[in-house]
Amino acid sequence: TRPLKVALLGCGVVGSEVARIMTTHADDLAARIGAPVELAGVAVRRPSKVRAGIDPALVTTDATALVKRGDIDVVVEVIGGIEPARSLITTALEHGASVVSANKALLAQDGAALHAAAEEHGRDLYYEAAVAGAIPLIRPLRESLAGDKVNRVLGIVNGTTNFILDKMDSTGAGYQEALDEATALGYAEADPTADVEGFDAAAKAAILAGIAFHTRVRLDDVHREGMTEVTAADFRSAREMGCTIKLLAICERAKDGASVTARVHPAMIPLSHPLASVRGAYNAVFVESDAAGQLMFYGPGAGGAPTASAVLGDLVAVCRNRLGGSTGPGESAYAALPVSPMGDV
Ligand code: HSE
Repeated sequence: TRPLKVALLGCGVVGSEVARIMTTHADDLAARIGAPVELAGVAVRRPSKVRAGIDPALVTTDATALVKRGDIDVVVEVIGGIEPARSLITTALEHGASVVSANKALLAQDGAALHAAAEEHGRDLYYEAAVAGAIPLIRPLRESLAGDKVNRVLGIVNGTTNFILDKMDSTGAGYQEALDEATALGYAEADPTADVEGFDAAAKAAILAGIAFHTRVRLDDVHREGMTEVTAADFRSAREMGCTIKLLAICERAKDGASVTARVHPAMIPLSHPLASVRGAYNAVFVESDAAGQLMFYGPGAGGAPTASAVLGDLVAVCRNRLGGSTGPGESAYAALPVSPMGDV
């Protein structure tokens, strides 16, 4: 069987793990897919930063030329951000490739248009790694629960803020002190705005709500409040009430089923709730549906190897689909349920 050719866009923390596992697990991947997968090109901005172990002959700074080659079966996009990722994904689909992306910001903003492009060209667009790193959520919601009716998705989808809040809760530290520790340990970035102001969680909430309720939810539809105002005193009050404070993403179907809501804000939750015991930088998502009842998905929501695990799972799935001449679940079955930011709850 001819090898399936993979182009990797971006070779940072996640991309280099994807490349590494593609090499170390090559035989297993080939066995699961039914054909070998071959890294055919790696597009980066700065070739000098590509880590050892990647054949320098594969490295290019011309990502557009790579996705236009025409012989690429799957493009793996781990650049992040809106542009050039959006143009590259669109071009890749136009040139016959299927796409695996880890890009939450892009999917939350332009998911509908990208899905439409994938469908138009008969290709796959998978993005398990865009929400909560290694934790399987997109495919469980889109496939395993497709015969059920999901009513609520409630979760901790940002590891950095969970680390900070957990630190405040367990040590009595203030926000700044806990943030400083998160920065020193490499959880928080130099500019922590996307995490602490809830933008990262809001993008994930938009993606989860869209998938869970089979509708379109964009980042702008998500009511967002960060966690920078939470104080040590708030934690003391929460404790007195048998609660803790978590930054939650809450996606709900209105009781009448006619609309959906998505929001991100700090919330008090009882210590008896399973989400209260999510410590450190872990993520957890609680799903409530008609038939299954309550489900919880838990695990590492960030990091090179965990995120690469989700990317590679998608890679196997889209390669199998290509070999079978099929595509995964498309978007045509979507109902356009109105989204009301603050909801009726
Ligand atoms: N900054 C994110 C987090 C990384 O802390 O969860 C994963 O999207």
